[in-house]
This record gives sequence, C-alpha cells and structure tokens, in this order.
Amino acid sequence: MRRAVCPGSFDPVTNGHLDIIVRASKLFDEVVVAVGINKNKNTLFTVDERMDLIRQAVRDHPAGATNVAVEPSHGLLVDFCRSHGIQSIVKGLRAVSDFDYELQMAQMNTRLAGVETLFMSTNPQYAFLSSSLVKEVAKYGGDVSGLVPDVVLKQLRERL
Ligand code: PNS
Repeated sequence: MRRAVCPGSFDPVTNGHLDIIVRASKLFDEVVVAVGINKNKNTLFTVDERMDLIRQAVRDHPAGATNVAVEPSHGLLVDFCRSHGIQSIVKGLRAVSDFDYELQMAQMNTRLAGVETLFMSTNPQYAFLSSSLVKEVAKYGGDVSGLVPDVVLKQLRERL
C-alpha cells in the first residue's frame, strides 16, 4: 500500500492546502494529513478543531477523496512516518521563497529515516495564500471567501 503524509499546522486549512491534499490522494492509496502539535506555537484553533475542519473540508470537496485520514502529530515527522508505515512526504511549493527551507527539511528527513519528500506545485490560484495571511485579513474584516473551505470561513467569522 502506497501511503503519503501531508504535514502542516493547518491553522486553519486553506484551499491551497486542500488542493494539495486532494491531488495527492489521486496519486497514493492513502494520504494521512498530519496536524502538528507544537506547544511553542500559539494557534487560533485547537488541534481537534483543526483536524475536524480538515475532515469536513475533504468531505465537502467536489473531487471527493475517501482515502484521506487526518491525525495529530507531535515530535519528529519521520517518527510519525515510521509508526504509520508511510514512505513519502508530500508538500506544496508556492514560490521559490518556500524552497530553501523545504529542501533543508526534505534532506534532513531523508538523512534521518530515508523518507522521500515530493513537492507539488501549488495551484497558481492559491500561490499567495497562507494560513497566517488568511487569519490577518479575516481579523480586520477582509473577505477570505474562496480562499478557505466554507466550514473554515464560518469558523473564522465566529471566532474573529
Ligand atoms: O504548516 P507549517 O507550520 O509550515 O508545517 C511545518 C511542519 C509541521 C510540516 C514542520 O515543521 C515539521 O515537519 N515539523 C515536525 C517536526 C520535525 O520533524 N522537525 C524536523 C524537520 S526536518
């Protein structure tokens, strides 16, 4: 069984993330979305909320993806991969500015556990998008519809 992980903080999941998750689900038997628990990071949504939002967004996605699981992850990503029988990490690349750090992490993960990282080009529609930018725009009343799944839009409006 070919299994890949899409890791991230997903605070909250955006349409850019969702696009990568759904596209990856067409290439692998199973995609596990690993939602990072980082105690040093202040998040708007709890890990359970972030996982629920991803599950609902995947369920509501028109392309339909029944082979996507969502799980919490703490510690090293390679340990998550080992314990879940995952051979590949899938990451979206938005721009060259993402590349340096992503390459560093990819090489470290290969060095640590022989896990491969595959980069997918982000849909240009979402190339400028990030969770932090979405939160900032939403906080000041800007319109982020079309940039995040509807369930996330609703939660952002309630919370901010
Ligand atoms: O959405 P983010 O915050 O950019 O995601 C970053 C994430 C969670 C994918 C990355 O920080 C990660 O893989 N963290 C797990 C800890 C780990 O394995 N660190 C070493 C990376 S080589």
